[in-house]
Amino acid sequence: MTPPIPHKPVLLVVDDQAANIEVLHQIFKADHAVYMATSGAQALAFCANQLPDLILLDVLMPDMDGHQVCVQLKADPRTRDIPVIFVTGQSNPHDETQGLRLGAVDFIPKPVNASIVRARVQVQLMLRQSLRQVQELNETLEERVAQRTAELRQALLALRQSQDNLADSEARATLSTLIASVSHELGTPLGNSRMVAAALGEQTKVMAQALKAGQIKRSSLDQFVEQVSEGVSLLESNLVRAVDLLGDFRQVAADQASEQRRVFKLDVVVGEILHTLSPSLKRQPHRIVVDIAPDIVMDSQPGALGRVLINLVNNAYLHAFEGHTNGELTISAHADANQVTLLVADNGVGMAPDVLPKVFDPFFSTKVGHGGTGLGMAIVQNLVTKALGGAVSVTSTVGQGTRFELVLPRVFSG
Ligand SMILES: Nc1ncnc2c1ncn2[C@@H]1O[C@H](COP(=O)(O)OP(=O)(O)OP(=O)(O)O)[C@@H](O)[C@H]1O
Ligand SMILES: [Mg+2]
Repeated sequence: MTPPIPHKPVLLVVDDQAANIEVLHQIFKADHAVYMATSGAQALAFCANQLPDLILLDVLMPDMDGHQVCVQLKADPRTRDIPVIFVTGQSNPHDETQGLRLGAVDFIPKPVNASIVRARVQVQLMLRQSLRQVQELNETLEERVAQRTAELRQALLALRQSQDNLADSEARATLSTLIASVSHELGTPLGNSRMVAAALGEQTKVMAQALKAGQIKRSSLDQFVEQVSEGVSLLESNLVRAVDLLGDFRQVAADQASEQRRVFKLDVVVGEILHTLSPSLKRQPHRIVVDIAPDIVMDSQPGALGRVLINLVNNAYLHAFEGHTNGELTISAHADANQVTLLVADNGVGMAPDVLPKVFDPFFSTKVGHGGTGLGMAIVQNLVTKALGGAVSVTSTVGQGTRFELVLPRVFSG
């Protein structure tokens, strides 16, 4: 089926014989606007005013023959694309080739057969119509592509911006987790110290009164000294714990805040991170086993490493150990001269084969609507590759657990 042509096509019939024109007029008048010209000059004058959709052009005409008319039409950019069909009296293959060479699209022998001429004209009009549509489409396409490109560029910018914001807010969230967790942890030794100090104060007051009254016994003096020294050692151990904790926290916080490169021992940094996380982790029945040789020294960004670890530990507790009471997370490392391989493996639920390939996709989470944003692992991958210059991979078996492997250069200048 041929698609409809929207407007009545304009045909120009050029022939020096009125009878021939009349034949073609009869064939086309019903559904075409048919104009006539009886000479080449008239045809060109018509085209100067109005562009027909197709020209049926007689070859043999006095003064200017069809071939000459065709040459002129094809030389003018305005009329160049109008399809020309030659209507030839004699069947002369040379003439026909010549016509086609001049740019005609077809030729029809006289006397014309109505259905043949209609079919051929129809084909050319359809072709021209389709060509126009393609041209129009091309023009708007370029515009549309330009517009889409601009939109995409804008979206990309917005995405980068939000990625930066997210990385910022992630760093802040890590810090506030640490602050919450450290303040909680500091509460115990400081609370203990306060109680011990109060008890010591009370006992000293009692002792001072007894002294004043001159009723002090040797045995109660001995007891007092024992209580004081016990209290002091309790105070000391509690304060040492608090100071240690603060020291670790200060280092972790400085690493988090500075994004700076420094030389550090892997086991020490991992210890600091786990220590600062321990208050929240201790509330759970799971264990963390650390197996890192004490001599692995790195020159890299400990802050980034800390955030990676925090995400991996949190994921193990949140996802892997869901419903478990004896989860075990092993953090181990080995190193050669250039590289450190850090393994973080849990014995938890594992991941289904359809989940595993998506772990690092931003916004992929099996806990959407339950606190998961699906950014944790995307951030891990970003930090491992960009800030630490390494690579991260994952293997997992449902029911057995998940293992993340981080291969990191010992020295990375970022
Ligand atoms: N150790 C693990 N064991 C089992 N599944 C895991 C483990 N770590 C990650 N996953 C799966 O990978 C998904 C993506 O983890 P990711 O850390 O990116 O997002 P999330 O933890 O859901 O949300 P958040 O952005 O708050 O971290 C999780 O939703 C979970 O299904
Ligand atoms: Mg997570």
